[in-house]
Amino acid sequence: MRSHLLHDTTTERYRRSVTEGIERVATRAATTGRQSPARTPEPPAPRLAAIDLDRPLGDTGLALDELDGIYLRDTLSFRRPRYLAHLHCPVVIPAAVGEAVLAAVDSPLATRDPSAGGALIERRLIDWTAGRLGLGPAADGVFTGGGTRSTVQALTLALARTGDSDPARLRVLASEAGHFGVRTAAGQLGLGPDAVITVPGDPDGRTRVLALARELARCERAGLLPMAVVATAGSTDFGSIDPLPEIAALCARYGVWLHVDASYSCGLLASRRNRHRLAGIEHADSVTVDYHKSFFQPVGSRAVLVRDGSVLRPAPRGAGREARTARRFDALTLWMTLRVMGADAVGDLFDEVCDLATEGWRLLDADPRFEVLMEPALSTLVFRYLPPVVTGPADIDRANLHARKALFDSGDAVLADTKVGARRYLKLTLLDPATTPADLGAVLDLISRHAERYLAERLGPIG
Ligand SMILES: Cc1ncc(COP(=O)(O)O)c(C=O)c1O
Repeated sequence: MRSHLLHDTTTERYRRSVTEGIERVATRAATTGRQSPARTPEPPAPRLAAIDLDRPLGDTGLALDELDGIYLRDTLSFRRPRYLAHLHCPVVIPAAVGEAVLAAVDSPLATRDPSAGGALIERRLIDWTAGRLGLGPAADGVFTGGGTRSTVQALTLALARTGDSDPARLRVLASEAGHFGVRTAAGQLGLGPDAVITVPGDPDGRTRVLALARELARCERAGLLPMAVVATAGSTDFGSIDPLPEIAALCARYGVWLHVDASYSCGLLASRRNRHRLAGIEHADSVTVDYHKSFFQPVGSRAVLVRDGSVLRPAPRGAGREARTARRFDALTLWMTLRVMGADAVGDLFDEVCDLATEGWRLLDADPRFEVLMEPALSTLVFRYLPPVVTGPADIDRANLHARKALFDSGDAVLADTKVGARRYLKLTLLDPATTPADLGAVLDLISRHAERYLAERLGPIG
């Protein structure tokens, strides 16, 4: 069984086995025609349940055959250009190479000797990102276990700064359009149930600065202690970017820690045309960047950056660098990406999807079959089909949800849906530069056709 261990004596087996795996992925990627998981006659759960994990197949090829049936065949459809559902970008090939190297070498960053190069590479990438953010010479950061995990780390640092204040007095002020992870983080830190104050946003989703000022003043009057403001640069639904310079000025006035959630918008850091949209982020005390959302990296690639690196050393209340526990060298994929393609090429790809969203907005805005909300701030579109005759709002909701499901079931496209106010909308998250305006046009036609047919069957012919 030692022949399965990767060693100096097993390199040939390693080469053959990994190549076999890569071949399967490449073949599936080249042949998957559907845009959504196939509705197989035999769903994967029972097939999975039938697999006896105590009886190994003993052969990589056989295991890959099995994996194809329970995973690869249905999963690779999310690499198709009409897969428009999630904040999950395609991975660039240099990152996939980095991931393959990482999987085999697997040097834990905690163990000093074998990881010296890895630790230095991560450091360079943190410095590079901090430089792009403009956080200043004392900045530092760390790769983390996820966007929400980054928020927990940032808020832990903000909490540490408050000293021994009564936790019941602590407040976190967060954008209305912010991610629910802020509440998760506050809960994990043991803050009270009222700790997170949601600050109302304008119709474009951006935090209302006057409302934030009012909340900060109210906290002061009530003897509460705002420990952090969490601004959002790139909200999940609208991609809206909060007015960072104004928010930063308020935070400075009240001495409050400013955390910016740039999970989604961080791709702008590499953009030659659109970097200015993040103006003001340089004033943040901490920033979340999820390279896996807009740098075309795999999900392990994300970090939290801080303006004052000293807060990470020594780690207050366990928030810091986590240098004493084994960490995966997740920075390697970004390193390979920057060394093969360069940042400009990454930024160009993100610009392409932002441009595509603008093009999609024009299409929707000019199309009487649809109502589109807000010109895109990044690369999402929130819209819905509206029938030409007066129809009850609940029926319109149902028609849109039906269209979304019909597209999924047919394998033609995958969209998301979201609630705005009391109503249901459809959402496209455009992160694949291979998606074209023609794809968007075709998807809109299909939505309209499915929704129209649904309403006709329920209410009689439309229009
Ligand atoms: C704006 C924003 N922030 C944070 C997150 C959380 O990221 P993760 O899923 O990596 O925890 C998301 C997830 O979609 C997000 O959209």
